[in-house]
Amino acid sequence: MMRTNLLYGTVYGSAQSVAEALANELENRGVVVNLLQPDELEGFIPSVDEWLLVVTSTTGQGDLPDDIAPWFYALKEQAPYLPGLPYAVVGLGDSSYDTFCGAGHQVDDLLRELGGESLAPMLTIDAMETMEPETDALDWLGGWVKF
Ligand SMILES: Cc1cc2nc3c(=O)[nH]c(=O)nc-3n(C[C@H](O)[C@H](O)[C@H](O)COP(=O)(O)O)c2cc1C
Repeated sequence: MMRTNLLYGTVYGSAQSVAEALANELENRGVVVNLLQPDELEGFIPSVDEWLLVVTSTTGQGDLPDDIAPWFYALKEQAPYLPGLPYAVVGLGDSSYDTFCGAGHQVDDLLRELGGESLAPMLTIDAMETMEPETDALDWLGGWVKF
C-alpha cells in the first residue's frame, strides 16, 4: 500500500482540521500516513515513491500561510526533479477574493512543474459555500481513492 505524506498550511486551523480528517480516512483504508506538522517541514523533499497530499488555505492576496510558505519557497528554489510524483492538492479559500484558492493553485502548479502527476484534480473549498470543509474533502477523496 502506498505511503502518504500529508502536509498542511493554515492560518486559523481549518486546513489542519481537513488534513486530519483526510489522514484518518486514509488510515481507515489501510494507508500509512505521515502527517507532517508545519514545524517538521524544513528540508522535506517529497519522495516519488510515496503519495503527497497538500492541504492549504490562502491568506493575504493569494498567498500561502506563513507556516507552509518557507517549505514551498525552498522547494521552488531547489526545484528537485520529481518525475511521476503522485500528488493531490486541497485548497481552502473564499470566493469573495479575486485570488480564490491562490495558494493551492501555486502548490498545484509547482508540483506539476517539478514532474508530479496529479492523482485527482485539485479540490477547492469555498468558505462562502460550506461550513464543513472536512465533508467536502472526504467526498472528494472517496471519488478517487478506490480502496
Ligand atoms: C486576511 C485574509 C486573507 C484571505 N485571502 C484570501 C485569498 O486571497 N484568496 C482566498 O481564496 N481566500 C482568502 N482568504 C480566505 C481563507 O483562505 C479561508 O477563510 C480559509 O477557509 C481559511 O482557512 P484556515 O483556517 O486553514 O486558515 C483570506 C482570509 C483572510 C482572513
